[in-house]
Amino acid sequence: MKKILLTGGLGYIGSHVAVELIDKGFEVIILDDLSNSELFVLDRIKEITGKDIIFEKGDIRDYDFLYHLLSRYNIEGVIHFAAKKAVGESVQKPLLYYDINVSGLICLLKALGDHSIKKLIFSSSCTVYGSPDSFPVTEQTPFGDTPSPYGKTKQMCEQILEDASLIADYDIVSLRYFNPVGAHPTGKIGELPKGVPNNLVPFITQTAAGLRDELSIFGSDYNTPDGTAIRDYIHVVDLARAHVRALEANLGKYVALNVGTGKGHSVLEVVKTFQEVTGVNLPFKIVDRREGDIPEIFGDTNFANHKIGWKAEKGLAEMLKDAWRWQKSLLK
Ligand code: NAD
Ligand code: UFG
Repeated sequence: MKKILLTGGLGYIGSHVAVELIDKGFEVIILDDLSNSELFVLDRIKEITGKDIIFEKGDIRDYDFLYHLLSRYNIEGVIHFAAKKAVGESVQKPLLYYDINVSGLICLLKALGDHSIKKLIFSSSCTVYGSPDSFPVTEQTPFGDTPSPYGKTKQMCEQILEDASLIADYDIVSLRYFNPVGAHPTGKIGELPKGVPNNLVPFITQTAAGLRDELSIFGSDYNTPDGTAIRDYIHVVDLARAHVRALEANLGKYVALNVGTGKGHSVLEVVKTFQEVTGVNLPFKIVDRREGDIPEIFGDTNFANHKIGWKAEKGLAEMLKDAWRWQKSLLK
């Protein structure tokens, strides 16, 4: 049974990937410092899968900790989720973001090199494309201007990985996530935003649950059919399955893949679909655009389909239904 280390594996995406990997017969070891996750998620993963999971609490910037962890287990591959991800916070705390996201990756690469571990999957983001002007974006679309330190850390990390792959016999895949939303269909794991959510779907579900008064839609004057911004929302379980496929594939050196559905949905479409599938009324108002937001992005996913045989299967309605089930479970 292949042992796979998930850094940041108790977080939103890592926890869903843990479930899919265990389901496919992998043995999972989770490393997390619990800075943005809760220990109960470990029990939930065990409940869903019926399997035991090794958990190691620690920081990816701690080389000695990483070195000893990798020495203890015969790890064949690593999926690196551990990072800070709040765009706004990254503007306030750029050094923290460069330290955890960039220095953390370098520390991990050194420890992997010292154990001759070749296989690495990296959590990248479509934010690397900045504000593109033609759609869908392909992996050939060049990196664009991304105003936040967060976005820049993802560009830097991809560059570091590509350079590292040139001098050693690595097999590295960067997965460029579009907008992951939804939750596991069991309602046992999902996103756990701290404080007021920045992202659209958690804000919608918290508003529907009565925890927030109303949703603010940021801008209705974009050059899109209904004037609101367009994103490529992807179900977190589909996204998780892309990691399993990327681990199983042998692509060699370095490759970056778009992981989205290939379809764009406007903010108003998301709101309307949520109301339709849940039957819950969602109070909202239109306000000014949010600073730093791009009007539109959605991805071409043919390359991922070709390289790892993966395609998203779940649509917006299922994403929102599952997000709502998870939100309701948090109220109990
Ligand atoms: P998350 O915050 O839920 O999970 C990250 C996990 O890493 C958390 O459990 C946190 O405790 C842990 N962590 C943070 N710093 C650490 C450190 N120094 N050492 C050890 N553990 C640490 O975030 P997520 O949504 O699951 O995102 C996972 C990855 O995917 C991140 O790299 C993020 O940048 C990337 N990503 C996320 C999105 C998104 O919308 N969620 C989109 C694109 C890319
Ligand atoms: N939005 C609102 N109201 C809200 C929250 C969001 O109208 O309360 C709008 C935004 O303006 C945007 C869309 O909903 O048009 C999606 O916003 P999110 O904040 O959910 O997602 P973003 O596309 O801004 O960014 C997210 C992550 C980034 C990641 C990017 C691509 O926050 O970290 O997806 O993966 F890089």
